[in-house]
Amino acid sequence: MDFPPALDFLTQFGCSFVLLRSLSRLLNLLGLLMMLTFCIKVLCFISRFKGVIRFLCDAGGVPRIRFCLDNVVQRRVPNLIGGSFLDSKSSTFIDVINPATQEVVSQVPLSTNGEFKEAVLAAKKAFPLWRNTPITTRQRVMLKLQELIRRDMDKLALNVTTEQGKTLKDAQGDVFRGLEVVEHACGMATLQMGEFVSNVSHGIDTYSIREPLGVCAGICPFNFPAMIPLWMFPVAVTCGNTFVLKPSEKDPGASVLLAELALEAGLPEGVLNIVHGTHDIVNAICDDDDIKAISFVGSNTAGMHIYSRAAAKGKRVQSNMGAKNHAIVMPDANVDATLNALVAAGFGAAGQRCMALSTVIFVGGSQQWEAKLIERAKALKVNAGTEPNTDLGPVISKQAKERIHRLVQSGVESGAKLLLDGRNIVVPGYESGNFIGPTILSDITANMECYQEEIFGPVLLSMQADSLEEAINIINNNKYGNGAAIFTTSGVAARKFQTEVEAGQVGINVPIPVPLPFFSFTGNKGSFAGDLNFYGKAGVNFFTQIKTITQQWKDSTGSSKINLAMPTSQKY
Ligand SMILES: *[C@@H]1O[C@H](CO)[C@@H](O)[C@H](O)[C@H]1NC(C)=O
Ligand SMILES: *[C@@H]1O[C@H](CO)[C@@H](O)[C@H](O)[C@H]1NC(C)=O
Repeated sequence: MDFPPALDFLTQFGCSFVLLRSLSRLLNLLGLLMMLTFCIKVLCFISRFKGVIRFLCDAGGVPRIRFCLDNVVQRRVPNLIGGSFLDSKSSTFIDVINPATQEVVSQVPLSTNGEFKEAVLAAKKAFPLWRNTPITTRQRVMLKLQELIRRDMDKLALNVTTEQGKTLKDAQGDVFRGLEVVEHACGMATLQMGEFVSNVSHGIDTYSIREPLGVCAGICPFNFPAMIPLWMFPVAVTCGNTFVLKPSEKDPGASVLLAELALEAGLPEGVLNIVHGTHDIVNAICDDDDIKAISFVGSNTAGMHIYSRAAAKGKRVQSNMGAKNHAIVMPDANVDATLNALVAAGFGAAGQRCMALSTVIFVGGSQQWEAKLIERAKALKVNAGTEPNTDLGPVISKQAKERIHRLVQSGVESGAKLLLDGRNIVVPGYESGNFIGPTILSDITANMECYQEEIFGPVLLSMQADSLEEAINIINNNKYGNGAAIFTTSGVAARKFQTEVEAGQVGINVPIPVPLPFFSFTGNKGSFAGDLNFYGKAGVNFFTQIKTITQQWKDSTGSSKINLAMPTSQKY
């Protein structure tokens, strides 16, 4: 073989073979690259005609191809209607975005009105059989469900972390707090018991029974993608209702996983249904005549809208909304435990809990507290929720991050002191994530926008009061009434606080006093609308209505007179 003169040295060194091999490798590589480009082009092409291919696959009975296609081309979150997970026929989908990376992890449809109606119809059809299913059987489905949730705990938590952003450990807590409601629903027979009084009059007994309502619906927020759906449907269905669930469009994955588990646990077709979307589907839920009750957790604007729109249609509504949770720190509080509690409750879950501590009021001087608070807050690790040892993950979206930045800035501009600024944080490897580091603003006054608005981010506001009375007054003047806590070693102060504070959930040396499901989640004032709270006795009452029966059994027909007067228990 003749080589160009410049390469003569190669032959001289017996390297012609090496050169040839390198050349062929290069060509191989080029070929591979071309194939890859071609494959990508084909995939893009297929994705454009996905609907047609899907239809052909379905018609030809080759669901495997269709399954592969769905997984390769795009992950779409299905509806659940009448026991089947079905892709929506909607033309509009919203990207579900990993808040740590901005990657699109799946797409959630705006379910069509037709699909919504089908879901309600499926729930309506499933109701007669389900309500007549023995309560022991319904409880056993929950018993199985709690087992399956435990089995899939890691999978559920990873799904929550990927779509919502919170740390894996916090995501496990999210699932676990929901699991506790499922456990509680396993004892529904006792919870749903009626009442009986014999001989209210001679030979006449009266008793009341709690009956399910029919089709109920739940509308969920983004901050607890597993816990909140589990606050809703397990209690509802174990009481004998059927359910239509609308998960948050930002992180619908956990709801779908939980519904898969519920079906695996033996929940019959149509008892639990899932549809997706935003305003339109929410309004459809409020307006639908077949839906009897709505559970909602989320913002005040949405919550009050749903409350009034659904109430106008005669529905029951329980609506858990915004919060501004305060902690009062008394001078005698245990320093170490209090600081740890403030940091954990202020910055945990990146402040996106409706029971997060967003404001601390120091009674009798704040300076010595603030210095240490800054130190501990600074030490927290901000990173993607999947990274080990992360303390705070990102906030849910770019818009949420911008809003939090704006509220912090407005605080600074109206005279607050920025003790710790987490706004410019950069997380290596996750540069495009919606991260905000722990932020502390002090010298806050009640007229500031950052105080009046729920920030829903890792921002702690610091205020001062001269006395416990003054501190309690600050809390009571706030429009919200979700939670409040006091840190003190004085029982007298704690008792005064417990009695006088206007908040639904009170913590005494406990920063996030979210009650376990044998009590109810009891926000008040602007944080709750409706009168029957989530889970606990109130939760069971919400999902049931009372029927009162008065009975009389007589041995013989005897001689009875017609009496047109109002019957009373008095003997004439
Ligand atoms: C209820 O009333 C009937 C008729 O007056 C009487 O015979 C019976 O003993 C009473 N039963 C009870 C449990 O009080
Ligand atoms: C979470 O699970 C749902 C249901 O299987 C799925 O649609 C979604 O893509 C999952 N999300 C992630 C990030 O894996």
